Amino acid sequence: MVSGFLRAGLGLLNMAKPKVIFVLGAPGAGKGTQCQKIVDRFGYMHLSAGDLLREERAKPDSQYGELIESYIQEGKIVPVEITCSLLESAMKKSGKDKFLIDGFPRNQNNLEGWNKAVAQNVNLLFVLFFECPREACVERCLGRGAAGSGRSDDNMQSLQKRFNTYITETQPIIKYYEERNLVRTIDANTSPDEVFEEVKKVFENFEAGGDF
Ligand code: C5P
Ligand code: MG
Repeated sequence: MVSGFLRAGLGLLNMAKPKVIFVLGAPGAGKGTQCQKIVDRFGYMHLSAGDLLREERAKPDSQYGELIESYIQEGKIVPVEITCSLLESAMKKSGKDKFLIDGFPRNQNNLEGWNKAVAQNVNLLFVLFFECPREACVERCLGRGAAGSGRSDDNMQSLQKRFNTYITETQPIIKYYEERNLVRTIDANTSPDEVFEEVKKVFENFEAGGDF
């Protein structure tokens, strides 16, 4: 017979909070590429806010499809209620307990919505920030577009808007987390394998109980 006290304790253990790492950086900084490598090596589940929005947009019965498409083409950030609920339901559906959340939070509205609805239910480990000069990022996105990414925003016109949004809206979020000593910055202006060597150091150091 398990005592009430013990049962409560076991309940708490079962309810260990999911772990979250936010992945931020300019468009084309290599967030998606590196997340895939992290998944393969460290077993996290990758959730890209942009991918989830594109998936939602593609559903014929979505009430948000048109709104999402217009925001994406304009390089604007979709209202957090939509993005956060896509993230939450993907987290729940996965049954996993450690997540890379890529491309979120991208602005103050994202941050506030997350802090209000989700932050207290997860354990934010750190924020991985891929730092890369604009010219290299633009070149990568245009290359990706030319190679058939099929993305309606991998063109010069959308890219300019996406960069403006990144500078005016996302950089302050990175600063917010920097002030909380949560940002781990990676030089992303090298080859994917070289970047991953740096990423690995951050994860190995974290797992070893290093700088936290
Ligand atoms: O991260 P990714 O480059 O795939 O994002 C593509 C677009 O998706 C962004 O430019 C933006 O319009 C939208 N997005 C958003 N909110 C997020 C992430 C992406 O509105 N948190
Ligand atoms: Mg991406």
